[in-house]
Amino acid sequence: MKVVKAGPKPSKEAGMIESPIYMGINAVGMVKEMSEEIDWDSLTFSLTPTDTMYLTETTADDPWMPGSLRPYGPIQMSPAAGVLNYGQGLFEGMKAYRTAKGRVVFFRPEENARRMQRGADRLKMPPVPESVFVDAVEQCVKANLRWLPPTGKGAMYVRPLLMGSGPILGVAPAPSYTFLVYVTPVGPYFKGGVSAIDLLISEEHHRAAPGGSGGVKAIGNYAPGMMPSKKAKAAGYAEVIYLDAETHSYVEEVGAANFFCVKDGVLYTPELTGTILPGITRNSIIQLARHNGIEVVETKVEATFAMTADEAFCCGTAAVISPIGTITKGDDKATFGDGKPGRITQQLYSQLVGIQNEDEEDIFGWLHEVPL
Ligand code: PLP
Ligand code: COI
Repeated sequence: MKVVKAGPKPSKEAGMIESPIYMGINAVGMVKEMSEEIDWDSLTFSLTPTDTMYLTETTADDPWMPGSLRPYGPIQMSPAAGVLNYGQGLFEGMKAYRTAKGRVVFFRPEENARRMQRGADRLKMPPVPESVFVDAVEQCVKANLRWLPPTGKGAMYVRPLLMGSGPILGVAPAPSYTFLVYVTPVGPYFKGGVSAIDLLISEEHHRAAPGGSGGVKAIGNYAPGMMPSKKAKAAGYAEVIYLDAETHSYVEEVGAANFFCVKDGVLYTPELTGTILPGITRNSIIQLARHNGIEVVETKVEATFAMTADEAFCCGTAAVISPIGTITKGDDKATFGDGKPGRITQQLYSQLVGIQNEDEEDIFGWLHEVPL
């Protein structure tokens, strides 16, 4: 399959590539016309409204029941909804791939379900059972299959949301909850695809503090990053690196991605202290590297140490593995390699993407086939 009829214009996302190929979107994000064709080679990480979304609701006391599919579009919510007033919400990010073997697969979707459950505990929301979560994402991908890019041309980004949708005035858990899933075809997260990115260490802002919500995918973790990120992008950087809020010495995350560096053949990544999101890609890279016989150290990674590394990269569902070309901290600038991914970065990237596309054997059993 090469092209698909599509219409809507992708949203403008700061610093991300925009595709000129879409047309026609009305004020509430509904598709007006379906006239243009998707050029799969030009896919970017931006929103293309698709056909169908999944939704289910429950109260604070009732169990979750399987939901249903409905046309993609706006949902109604009380102005006093917990999520709108107090940020009682979580999201997940996962991808479905069309593989070289002609299958449609998810990458470790159970891990997304479990992470959302841990987040639900933290934000005092009723956790969505893994079976409901996995069934929802499967149904949503199946219903929007025509938006799934061909093998190697991108993926279908799947966005589960859990939110306190019932009205509440006092600062307390909402009386009712909505779990919904929508999907959109995506390409590379950073401009330039897999070319190395330039990062700026944020000197003024932190992403998360001990005891806070940095270790879960709370929606409220993201808006405070927009201003520092926009500023860095305006100065020519792809994203910011956040250091820890206590000592401002240790690398925590790269925007919405985890950090790795390689020094003398050893792979280092910040240990999970509660302020770092436990990335599923991060975990997969650790397993892959150890399988390759590479020593992996999860520890506090000093920014000064990271800047002396031989290779550095960030990773996530959206970012996949993105090599880092430079890191700037104040007046200091570290350059890694010659703008091309280092040897270990390249090896891990090929293996990870190879497994996701089924060009490589799924030795860890990470793929989950979507029944069509
Ligand atoms: N860190 C943050 C803050 C994120 O939002 C994400 C994206 O989900 C990641 C790291 C990477 O996590 P994953 O590999 O599970 O996508
Ligand atoms: C993901 O990698 O899925 C993320 O959540 C990043 C996103 C905030 C764009």
